[in-house]
Amino acid sequence: MFKFFTKSASVPADLSFIGVDMHSHLLPGLDDGLKELETTVAFIKDLHALGYRKLICTPHILSDLYPNSKETILPKLQLVREAVAKAGIPIQIEAAAEYMVDHEFSELIQNSKKDDLLTFGENFILIEMSYLAASPNIEQTIFDLRMLQLQPIFAHPERYSYFHKKFDQYERFKELGCKLQLNLLSLSGGYGPDVKKVGEKLVKAGLIDYVGTDMHHERHLEMLKDLASKKEFYTLFEDLDIQNTNL
Ligand SMILES: [Fe+2]
Repeated sequence: MFKFFTKSASVPADLSFIGVDMHSHLLPGLDDGLKELETTVAFIKDLHALGYRKLICTPHILSDLYPNSKETILPKLQLVREAVAKAGIPIQIEAAAEYMVDHEFSELIQNSKKDDLLTFGENFILIEMSYLAASPNIEQTIFDLRMLQLQPIFAHPERYSYFHKKFDQYERFKELGCKLQLNLLSLSGGYGPDVKKVGEKLVKAGLIDYVGTDMHHERHLEMLKDLASKKEFYTLFEDLDIQNTNL
């Protein structure tokens, strides 16, 4: 159903050149991602088999819909780490968050110190906007995060259809000091042909710094396995200097 490069030859799946995933909803029962711990462990086993050595899980933090925080996320991280160790899967599991840039987030960063926020790597923070409209406070938010000595990474820029005909917006975010993270599944056409086209354009323009699975459910895992078995997928990344392995 979700075939990518259908005429292409199959190759053994090997995502070890990415190595670190920095965007997923694998922690169970926190958002619209996975629900059960057993499923989480099964997904992690498959991701390890695909070549990942580290997974940074990023549950949504979105006002009343997903009111997550360190208090809800870190205990789940601990549970998953214990279950993964028990299952004998040699992989590193970390957690941060995917922050929706909205009024609540502005207030949070105004009233927070750097250490209060869920970050990863040295100083990275993953942010997203609504798919319906750009956040009015996005530029101020990027500025405020940088004032906190944090490096914002913009999740799935290719999925914001209101930028599809304003490609210079992507360059603008880079100028503001934001890094861009492509969803791998955008390349499979799983979010539609326009997202696929813009995703490929961003890759070819060298604007993408990181790639993520944004893994939510079984269909995403199947699509990722399918994508990872296509020769053209690897060709697309030959000239792109993605930074995941540094995380
Ligand atoms: Fe996400």
